[in-house]
Amino acid sequence: MSNLSVDNLLGIKYLNKSDLNLIFKTSDNFKEIINRKIKKVPSLRDVTIANLFFENSTRTKLSFELAQKRLSADIVNFSSSGSSISKGETLIDTVNNILSMKVDMIVMRHPNPGASVFLSKNVDSCIINAGDGTHEHPTQALLDAYSLIEKIGDLKNRNILIVGDIMHSRVALSNIFAYQKLGANVTVCGPKSLIPKSIESLNVSVETDFRKALKNSDAVNMLRIQNERMSNSYFPSIREYVQQYGLTMSLLNSINKEIIVMHPGPINRGVEITSEVADSDQAIILDQVENGVAIRMAIMYLLAAKLK
Ligand code: CP
Repeated sequence: MSNLSVDNLLGIKYLNKSDLNLIFKTSDNFKEIINRKIKKVPSLRDVTIANLFFENSTRTKLSFELAQKRLSADIVNFSSSGSSISKGETLIDTVNNILSMKVDMIVMRHPNPGASVFLSKNVDSCIINAGDGTHEHPTQALLDAYSLIEKIGDLKNRNILIVGDIMHSRVALSNIFAYQKLGANVTVCGPKSLIPKSIESLNVSVETDFRKALKNSDAVNMLRIQNERMSNSYFPSIREYVQQYGLTMSLLNSINKEIIVMHPGPINRGVEITSEVADSDQAIILDQVENGVAIRMAIMYLLAAKLK
């Protein structure tokens, strides 16, 4: 197979295992290219991409933009602040106006879950979801899985732990789908109040005892508490959260096993992870960021091949 089974990247849910392997294989090529002295290739010359960010981002926005520049695409950037959204324009009207300027592909981050799926059904363009509310963050899951495979090889039958605010995390859902499609076993861990009751229908294990969960894991993905998506308090205090679910070096060292530590960023040092762990050799956090550029180059390259 040499092409993706989809025309948009809306979520990992819509991809199959062959898609994931094709994206990883293509990323290998781009990773080699962006480590050369001359990092730029003409693969997307004459393809115009609009980056629509309706929500804040550091890593994803810069990573997409760098990936587009490395591929020689033409790009335009849009953020909701300072746009005509504040004058009452709908998302569909905004995007159709942008598309009428001969834009070929849309990368969109949006605070509302399902925004990318909604857009794909209502406009005639290739849509890439750069994170939609609590729903999915597919490029993050792809770069996470790619980085972990790079470190420990095939994920089949490996045990991967996702810790923290599972309820409000789009990274958690996309990670669950990606790891399961690659044959791994996924456990989620955190306060019961931050684990959605429906999670077991996704065939993941739930563990509230962090130490016990870590002992059975090959890798742990630490998540931030998504305060911006919470209207209530979900645990008594940050101090109690840190005591029960913060990853410290003494906790890691107390487990007689080398566990890979991941984090999608942004990190809240001293809350879900200490600086000592985040900056340790066990953490692959900056490798994840580095791989994000190659993964996003691969996605856009593969989707551009399907443009009508
Ligand atoms: N991991 C991630 O999505 O980070 P940003 O919000 O900075 O893009």
